[in-house]
Amino acid sequence: MWVRSTCHLISGSICRGNSMTENVVVTRDGGVMEIVFNRPEKKNALTRAMYAAVVDALSAADTDPEVRVAILTGAGDIFTSGNDIKDFQVRAAAGNESPASPFLTALSTMQKPLIGAVNGAAIGVGTTMLAHCDLIVASRTARFVMPFTSLGLVPEAGSSLLFPRLLGNQRASALLLLGEPLTAEAALEWGFVNQLVEPEALMDTARGLARRMAALPPRAVRQTKHLIRHGAPDVTARIAEELVLFRERLSAPEAAEAFAAFVEKRKPDFSRFG
Ligand code: COA
Repeated sequence: MWVRSTCHLISGSICRGNSMTENVVVTRDGGVMEIVFNRPEKKNALTRAMYAAVVDALSAADTDPEVRVAILTGAGDIFTSGNDIKDFQVRAAAGNESPASPFLTALSTMQKPLIGAVNGAAIGVGTTMLAHCDLIVASRTARFVMPFTSLGLVPEAGSSLLFPRLLGNQRASALLLLGEPLTAEAALEWGFVNQLVEPEALMDTARGLARRMAALPPRAVRQTKHLIRHGAPDVTARIAEELVLFRERLSAPEAAEAFAAFVEKRKPDFSRFG
């Protein structure tokens, strides 16, 4: 088993990549890689370094023949609270490239199966990344929220295409326009997650599914995933289109007000915007 954000080789496996952060923990047990968002004191909010570490892990999973399947999960009581809002502020000021962009590419082009194990709230990219998982197991405490508009932003990760396709326009609009939370029960009923379990059974259930997947003929699994997922070039195009708008919105005054309100722990006031 090897542990840590891509570069810490414990024993007997390949470990590559340049990212260094302790906020992503990567382990492997047999053919199953686990990638854990590990910044519980900030509700696993994703920083630039965390995106880079996950990209390295996903790419190692895809290229290491010993890895058959990967699990994405979060430490503590939350999957992830989405992009770090302070990082959004820094990026908006500096006009930096989105660290989420390579992450979304790695996620949406991954050849091996990816299982989401959702241990609590999944917010923003925390939910949209799950649309790229092949199977999702969620704890009964999970909830899914995409508050992009209330942050002055637009959806990303292809979610503006994938959610209407999966759930229908009305449900997708409630989630993406209003930012309404999707409960664990509704997520199961609407087909967004495969299975709901008690919190303490989450990882055993996810690992059980992963082991079943890992025991299957790997090429047949990869080709089946390709047939299900990658016959859809419109998803890649939508991810790119969303990122252009997202970047524009990120440095607009509406987002500046939303981020400042979050940091100052107050309600945002959008009344002055036309
Ligand atoms: N970016 C940066 N910091 C975040 C964060 C985020 N996305 N989410 C949580 N944090 C930080 C909080 O600022 C707080 O830091 P502090 O202790 O220094 O004040 C710490 O994590 C704990 O969060 P807190 O809000 O106190 O926990 P909570 O249990 O009351 O609420 C959430 C948890 C996730 C519901 C709430 O933090 C939240 O709404 N976060 C923002 C989610 C979001 O809008 N993400 C962007 C999507 S595009």
